[in-house]
Amino acid sequence: MGDEDTAHPMRRRDWILSSAALPASAAALQTAAPKNIVIASANGLQSCAKAMEIIEGGGDTLDAIVAGVNIVEEDPNDTSVGYGGLPNELGVVELDASVMHGPTNRAGAVSALRNIKCPSKVAKLVLEQTDHVMLTGQGALDWAKLMGFKEEDLLTERSRLAWVAWKQSLRDREGNNNWTDGLDAPSKPAQKAEARLKELFPQFDDETIAWAMHMARFPTTGTINCLALNAKGEMSGTTTTSGLAWKIPGRVGDSPIIGAGLYVDQEVGAAGSTGRGEENIRVAGAHTIVENMRHGMSPKDACLDCLKRIVRNFKGDMEKLNRFDINFYALRKDGVYAGAALWSGRQRRDGGFTSPKFAVNDGGASRLEDCVPLLERRK
Ligand code: GLY
Repeated sequence: MGDEDTAHPMRRRDWILSSAALPASAAALQTAAPKNIVIASANGLQSCAKAMEIIEGGGDTLDAIVAGVNIVEEDPNDTSVGYGGLPNELGVVELDASVMHGPTNRAGAVSALRNIKCPSKVAKLVLEQTDHVMLTGQGALDWAKLMGFKEEDLLTERSRLAWVAWKQSLRDREGNNNWTDGLDAPSKPAQKAEARLKELFPQFDDETIAWAMHMARFPTTGTINCLALNAKGEMSGTTTTSGLAWKIPGRVGDSPIIGAGLYVDQEVGAAGSTGRGEENIRVAGAHTIVENMRHGMSPKDACLDCLKRIVRNFKGDMEKLNRFDINFYALRKDGVYAGAALWSGRQRRDGGFTSPKFAVNDGGASRLEDCVPLLERRK
């Protein structure tokens, strides 16, 4: 080995680089020409369009997708990301985000970040302006403020409504709840939970109150993941979220974990996730998918294989698996892409079923496409 190295120093170096980047089984990936394309979770239609506009204008793929997801982070009506995200159990919004830049193989992330609207911007600055990959909690907030980010309350009235609905839904074994009127309250006709909320939040209509009641029972793990490729073959990705609603303060999901909520290797492709982060962390989902593609799987098969690993972690127990959703998104370096979902859909409040989708923009208007489901949900 030593002799060979001395005799052929370049040979060893070339072998190291090529084996790390692309083994022979994925050699076909090297021939297809890349193109401009952006994909995202279903809440990313506008994000994809914004990112594509920047990419078509010659902008960097990471600048493009961060500008794209900022639209959702700043949107008070998306209650799973950024400003207006559903809070932790104390009523405080805590955000997680990560970014990866393919051309430089760099990563940045923040977790449990409070009071800053756009955590993806902070994650990008961690990538660009520190020698670290992730900052968390108070340290992340202090650093973001030092870097000029404005501190602001991220809890909107809509999210506060949902949090109060959740607090009021809790019961001890006697049926008592500290967040509704006490035993000493004057007797009055039994009040339904909706009416009690309406008293506190008269500005909201019945539909919003019903939404809040639903959120109290089915806390969301919505998130936005966005992946981009340009015609030069450069790739980037970002994932940003307010995480699991009503979480224990300090809970960190998969979104800021490089290799779980996001992974980019522009010699192969990029992947990301939305849904129950705990399950994704246990299979290192995004990295697993990129490695699957490296070894020749299509983006669709790479995502489905990762979902099967989650099923295996529960030994196929459908009752347990039925209690959560998780989606994966993958974009290969030649522009082939897929979205895949653990379940075919989820029952809506009106009794119908949703159908999991993801957003795509390859020029022009963004569109929604169907995720490939692994399992069919019937209830
Ligand atoms: N995937 C978002 C979270 O679990 O926090």
